[in-house]
Amino acid sequence: MKPDLFTFEEPARVTFGVGALAKLPELVAGLGARALVISDPGIVKAGILDRVTSLLQGAGVTGDAFTQVEPNPSIETVNAAHDMFRRSRGAFVVAVGGGSSMDVGKVVAVLAAHGGTVLDYEGLGKVPGPGVPVVAIPTTAGTGSEVTIFSVITDHQRKFKLAVGSPFTVPQVAICDPELTLSMPPALTAATGMDALTHAIECYVNTVHNPISKTLALEAIRLIGRALRRAFANGADLAARTEMLLASTMAAMAFTRTRLGNVHAMSHPLGGHFNVPHGVANAILLPHVMAWNMVACYDTYPVVAGALGERVAGLAPHEAAQAAVDAVRRLSRDVGIPERLRDQGVNREAIPRMADDAMKSGNILVNPRATSRADIVALFETAF
Ligand SMILES: [Fe+2]
Repeated sequence: MKPDLFTFEEPARVTFGVGALAKLPELVAGLGARALVISDPGIVKAGILDRVTSLLQGAGVTGDAFTQVEPNPSIETVNAAHDMFRRSRGAFVVAVGGGSSMDVGKVVAVLAAHGGTVLDYEGLGKVPGPGVPVVAIPTTAGTGSEVTIFSVITDHQRKFKLAVGSPFTVPQVAICDPELTLSMPPALTAATGMDALTHAIECYVNTVHNPISKTLALEAIRLIGRALRRAFANGADLAARTEMLLASTMAAMAFTRTRLGNVHAMSHPLGGHFNVPHGVANAILLPHVMAWNMVACYDTYPVVAGALGERVAGLAPHEAAQAAVDAVRRLSRDVGIPERLRDQGVNREAIPRMADDAMKSGNILVNPRATSRADIVALFETAF
């Protein structure tokens, strides 16, 4: 463990549990009379949007709904949602959906308060003050965007996924209701669950962890090790859904200030260039990056392996560390994650440019093993 000085900050207020959505009326009290709901077509189809708007109406809140958020959401989508927010004279944002809807909602709240464009706030700490309030209601168990300082938006001109990172973007209210995740199909359950696992593992082993982030991350790893296969195999398993959503939120609380590692540095270019879903990109990369990082992780991987249910007592350190990589690979296979980037529409010629983009990520700097551009190229090649 690293000694001494650390700061842990997690300003989000989380209401968690089966039926938590019913608390929406009391949780929006005082936020204003008009809201823009930001969501995606799948949420409309699942009937979740109707439930949210009728609860809002019951609380005396009216407004419009922007329901066109896409996976890997673009700057154009942010602008369109912001336009609607202005025209509808909203006082706050209600973001309902996966990471895409919540990320768009968090950035719209910044634009509504401070003007400008997304590009003005790209990077860490560029937002000058609080945005309009955001109520975040996740419907997947993976991103944890409901409690993080980050929003990731795709700039199609640069084929680049940019991050806006500021404590002023953390939603005022997070409502985590596992019932809302029941409608996720198995492939989405797998991809988002592996994203949460990646958050937890990367922030457990990186160089800036602290005792609180590690505790949250390790418990998230343990919960995912128990619950992801069950949630994948039987989407109606509410206990598994509950454990997955708890894990996702806890992992995000852990990484929001400590950042992640090479997997996330590399998965963002895969989304920016080839629109590979974030969770799938992470899941493909994770065992390769873990294997490469192992030389720096002989103290942490055995703990990860144990949390994933591996028997590590009596093993030599290198065997116990290898058990963590093997456990992740097995979990990934069990939930149907593809194994190679080449099967995801990724063009090998783009690896040098993706490596350039990956090197711009702050996640490289905290990876447990010091990483050069050549290392990233080699890791992309291995995963290809
Ligand atoms: Fe992620």
